[in-house]
Amino acid sequence: MLGPQGAGKGTQAQRISRETGAKHIATGDLVRAEIKSGSELGEAVKDYNNRGELVPDEIIIEMTKPHLEKHDAWLLDGFPRNEAQARALDEALEELGLELDAAVVLEAPDKELVERLSGRRTSEATGKIYHVEHDPPPEGDGEDPGPFIQREDDREESIRRRLEIYHEHTKPLKDYYVEKDILVTVDATQAIPEVTKDVMAALERKDA
Ligand code: AP5
Repeated sequence: MLGPQGAGKGTQAQRISRETGAKHIATGDLVRAEIKSGSELGEAVKDYNNRGELVPDEIIIEMTKPHLEKHDAWLLDGFPRNEAQARALDEALEELGLELDAAVVLEAPDKELVERLSGRRTSEATGKIYHVEHDPPPEGDGEDPGPFIQREDDREESIRRRLEIYHEHTKPLKDYYVEKDILVTVDATQAIPEVTKDVMAALERKDA
């Protein structure tokens, strides 16, 4: 799944993973888990993450590769983010004898994304993504007890930097996947369930 920060890649991947059983592999989650563990690798990637910069390609590729091998079906969220990563993914898939079914791009204008990211909250207990207005965290002792936290990189200067990087390095990947004839574009300005419907329909068409 491709798309700018805040377009809803994580939100949609979590919903589709629940519906289809495909494994959700989010490189941002892998990075944050490494930071939380306090490992040497976590220390090495922490500054990149907090400033909104990309973690160096060789680190992110090594973090991602083992997860591809473990599952028959998966949704990759946040990887690849530039052409070097896209080529590394192609090589890894070729070694594993796998192919990408689709590259789904969620599209939404920058001004809407900043508002979404500022209101994002993530459950520390379950990792589920919420928004203070559009998808509020449950109150009281529900199925998700929280706490609901704001990400370190959801501050205005990091958000702006992440969007700059998206436009410069990740958006050009659309052409890469057009050439492979697997690109699907979905309007991500719609309400969350509508976007899920469109992504599912697009995946079914690609699967047919
Ligand atoms: P990562 O965790 O991938 O963050 P990101 O790229 O900034 O993307 P986001 O998680 O912000 O956006 P999203 O599209 O998933 O939005 P979400 O669904 O949460 O990466 C973090 C960092 O890790 C990077 O900056 C980098 O340092 C490093 N990293 C990761 N991968 C890397 C790679 N490949 N190479 C190098 N470095 C890498 O939704 C956002 C909010 O909007 C939520 O509150 C949600 O509830 C709300 N929302 C979602 N959809 C809708 C809707 N349709 N209507 C209204 N609200 C909505």
